[in-house]
Amino acid sequence: MRALVLSGGEGSRLRPITSTNAKQLIPVAGTPILFQALEAISAAGITEVGIVTGSTGDEVRAAVGDGSQWGIDVTFIPQEAPLGIAHAVMTAEGFLAGEPFLLYLGDNVLLGGVTRFIAEFEHSEAAAHILLARVSEPEHFGVAVLDGDSVVRLVEKPREHLSDLALVGVYLFRGSILDACRTLEPSGRGEYEITEAIQWLIDEGREVRAEMVSGYWKDTGRPEDLLEANRMMLGTIETSIDGSIDAATTIEGPVIVRSGAVVTDSLLRGPLVIGEGSTVDRSVIGPDVSIGPQCRIGASEVADSIVMEECTIAEVRGLVGSILGRRVEVRHSGGSGAHRLIVGDQSQIEVD
Ligand code: DAU
Repeated sequence: MRALVLSGGEGSRLRPITSTNAKQLIPVAGTPILFQALEAISAAGITEVGIVTGSTGDEVRAAVGDGSQWGIDVTFIPQEAPLGIAHAVMTAEGFLAGEPFLLYLGDNVLLGGVTRFIAEFEHSEAAAHILLARVSEPEHFGVAVLDGDSVVRLVEKPREHLSDLALVGVYLFRGSILDACRTLEPSGRGEYEITEAIQWLIDEGREVRAEMVSGYWKDTGRPEDLLEANRMMLGTIETSIDGSIDAATTIEGPVIVRSGAVVTDSLLRGPLVIGEGSTVDRSVIGPDVSIGPQCRIGASEVADSIVMEECTIAEVRGLVGSILGRRVEVRHSGGSGAHRLIVGDQSQIEVD
């Protein structure tokens, strides 16, 4: 069994955060979403992992390295353009070598891992095994129509309501999916859709199994999804303090303070993560906050937010529901009140 992780694409719904970042590298609970996929794959015992990359390939390559930190062997597979998930699978044909594989969309957060899902597939003869989750906005997903336990129809981003069962971005296939992909024409949105490839398997009479996802799942396509995934992943952390916290600081709930971080005269309301080498002084942080490495936070209040590396937050009261890209500076310029900021790398902002 191999794994193919998709880390290309455009991430247009996450602009401006991803104008320079690969969306799969955005940290959720202090760890890039893509790394959480690699951890799940490694935990399932898969060692041969292909990562499809696009225009942010250099960043993805630099962040992942050779995969040894997860005990996996990574092959990077550049995709010429983001022409669809099925196109990415076809691009990886050489790597897949006709073997069964796990396809994992690199922007999906799935709590609970993939081990059981893989074991079931390996004991079956099914051509594909898909995971489904009930969603309130099915028009944003591929959806499945079931007849009892059988999948009868799959439609990508349906305009009319057909089903509220969304396809989760984690799939298991055998080599036959490549035959299916080769039959496709670009869809209305100009992409080669994996959903249509699976429909082809159904039409050919191949067995396509479906099961409901049991734990938490999120496609982190939009900023609010990232914040929700951040809250959910933070809900699973346990306290671990490698940095330093002075006697004037109070801690409530689970907190991770990574090495080299220094917290003084502050209130830490877990769950939260403070990254390597960051400083927090005279501030109230949390709950549900991920602070990246090398940030400077002084005399500020931050809740329910993702703050990426090397940000400065100075004298800002009430930063909530925010996502700050790398090296963002937010400073106070008088006034008070809550602020919700979704800002890309290198922005400099003064708030009232
Ligand atoms: O998350 C689940 C949904 O993912 C499914 O319900 C849909 O059926 C499926 O089509 C997909 O929909 P999205 O519109 O969310 O896919 P997105 O374009 O965001 O791409 C998913 C991941 O694959 C993302 O990490 C980028 C990567 N990708 C995407 C395309 C189109 C590539 O690497 N290459 C590509 O060409």
